[in-house]
Amino acid sequence: MLHQFKVTAKSSTSKARAGELQLVHGRIKTPVFMPVGTLGTVKSLSPEELIGAGTQIILGNTYHLYLRPGCQVIDLFSGLHDFMHWKGPILTDSGGFQVFSLAKLSKITEQGFSFQSHIDGSKHLLTPEKSIEVQICLNSDIIMCLDQCIQYPAEKKEAEDALNLTTRWAARCKNTWQEKTGGKNALFGIVQGGMFEDLRKISAQALTELDFSGYALGGLSVGEPNEMMYDVAEYSLPILPENKPKYIMGVGTPKDLVELTARGADMFDCVMPSRNARNGQLFTRYGTINISNAVHKTDKNPIDPECGCCTCLNYSRAYLRHLYMSKELLSYRLNTLHNIHYYIKLMETMRQAVCEDRFEEFQKNFYNDLNQGEK
Ligand code: GUN
Ligand code: ZN
Repeated sequence: MLHQFKVTAKSSTSKARAGELQLVHGRIKTPVFMPVGTLGTVKSLSPEELIGAGTQIILGNTYHLYLRPGCQVIDLFSGLHDFMHWKGPILTDSGGFQVFSLAKLSKITEQGFSFQSHIDGSKHLLTPEKSIEVQICLNSDIIMCLDQCIQYPAEKKEAEDALNLTTRWAARCKNTWQEKTGGKNALFGIVQGGMFEDLRKISAQALTELDFSGYALGGLSVGEPNEMMYDVAEYSLPILPENKPKYIMGVGTPKDLVELTARGADMFDCVMPSRNARNGQLFTRYGTINISNAVHKTDKNPIDPECGCCTCLNYSRAYLRHLYMSKELLSYRLNTLHNIHYYIKLMETMRQAVCEDRFEEFQKNFYNDLNQGEK
């Protein structure tokens, strides 16, 4: 199998683990953070810069790429990799979550999502089969099943119906994937069930029986308290197969990544480092800073003197503030480069800590630094 996962080290004081996942376009080391490249670009950065920041795998979105430029264009390049000049692995989200958050959703039926494009209002039907076909056209290394994500808070009945539909769709996704790829690219199932422990268990068990290359927790970071998200991960992750990668979708802050890695998660994606960079928020070991703040006006120091990114090696806070205040394009680029580097480095540090079995010490240092920043 081309998508083999191997756990290579385990923390003795937590559920944190390190692993390796072999994919069609290369092998990635986990735990891993995947920068979000919704439209076939991690906004403002080139693939060469992403590699420079240590990126192993990026995320693309089926919903967006299907609407624009469409498979007719991407097929000419035999997939997203050559189209965007990214040689490494790509995970694509299935479109369900994006329909739910962006499109004018008209109807959810057994068949799929009927929706109107947020770009031109055109009408579409996204079925599980269609989602897999589009992801195959993108030649995604990790294809995600079409799922139904619900809002928080939700009634139990609503959560239960959504998880059951997600399970039936998962079986259809698996059939299409088997038929059309012969199992070459990886296919991940998505656990739903809202914030209900018994429903999460039902979902995890049903998907495990269908047997996927990996499993994701969906429906998190939808407005619930942080501790509730950690609880869902705490009881859901251990019931998923030990020898498969576990991915938490759309999460989160640096603290979330640490807390969820400690609970056994292997993969993450989030727009936070890139989106917040464009709003002037920069991540450091001592917490976030906002570069627009007047305290940076005459500061000749870099964002973080210990950071090895191109931004911190070459540019002062004063210059970065000036670029931001002037809305210069370079501001977006330099800020994004630093934040992506910070997220990738955090994951590398956690991986190293697991491999040397000092995750607890890592966690203590991480919180010490954060608390120091708050003083
Ligand atoms: N991204 C963040 N949350 C979700 C989810 O629940 N489902 C999918 N498909 N993508 C997500
Ligand atoms: Zn930096």
